[in-house]
Amino acid sequence: MPVAKPEKLPRHLAIIMDGNGRWAQERMLQRIVGHQKGVETVRNVVETCSVLGIGYLTLYAFSAENWLRPKTEVKALMALLKKYIRTETPRMMQNNIRFNVIGELTELPADVNQAVDEAVAKTAANNGMLLTLALSYGSRQEITRAAARLAADLAAGRITGDAINEELFSSYLYTPAIPAPDFLIRTSGEMRISNFLLWQIAYTELYFTDVRWPDFNKNELYKALNDYQARERRFGKTSEQLDTRR
Ligand code: IPE
Ligand code: IPE
Ligand code: MG
Repeated sequence: MPVAKPEKLPRHLAIIMDGNGRWAQERMLQRIVGHQKGVETVRNVVETCSVLGIGYLTLYAFSAENWLRPKTEVKALMALLKKYIRTETPRMMQNNIRFNVIGELTELPADVNQAVDEAVAKTAANNGMLLTLALSYGSRQEITRAAARLAADLAAGRITGDAINEELFSSYLYTPAIPAPDFLIRTSGEMRISNFLLWQIAYTELYFTDVRWPDFNKNELYKALNDYQARERRFGKTSEQLDTRR
């Protein structure tokens, strides 16, 4: 199944990659096997999006709340993350992908941070797709941090109160250089956002599928993108006002 309109792709696609644990448990396997399998999906989705010409891909890989999982699972996820970043950097170079991360990185183990820094530095000059991993990421934490940093700048006289608007506030978030997501996919059936990009998804198109992340193949991605292409984004206006309809 090809994508119907290659000219009408989301500029920014965000994905909540969910269902690794259930995928494994349904097969009587350890949860970590599901995460390992999930990495293969990440590899395929990243490659497909980059070939399609999607400008920004943001993947929710580990939430601030995921630190509450059993220590063994957290540890295994961190090891997997480090391995993924290390082994994928050459492929990112081949595909001209720039690597980026958002989240409370100070919480990550030092070796993961080091792998992140290396991949960010190595791919910094690439000008293809921007791949952002959300790691130790929580949206309320992000917004609170933005407010605190803005307050500090205000107190220090670096900005004035009347300069505060949406654009200025956005510049304090983790994502100042990234346009808001056009399309958000969540796999594995849950109909919730789980503290992901709350500010940024104000007008994002949402898509939920029951497919578990390890099973989310190219065909499922195309299906989602075709669904996106059939939507009319009105941003508060009426259909008649939209340029594309004239
Ligand atoms: C998503 O899969 C990956 C992470 C949150 C790290 P889950 O591990 O949440 O899988 P389920 O929801 O338990 O099936
Ligand atoms: C959301 O998945 C976080 C990631 C995909 C990294 P969870 O599986 O942690 O979400 P909840 O807690 O079930 O909502
Ligand atoms: Mg889950």
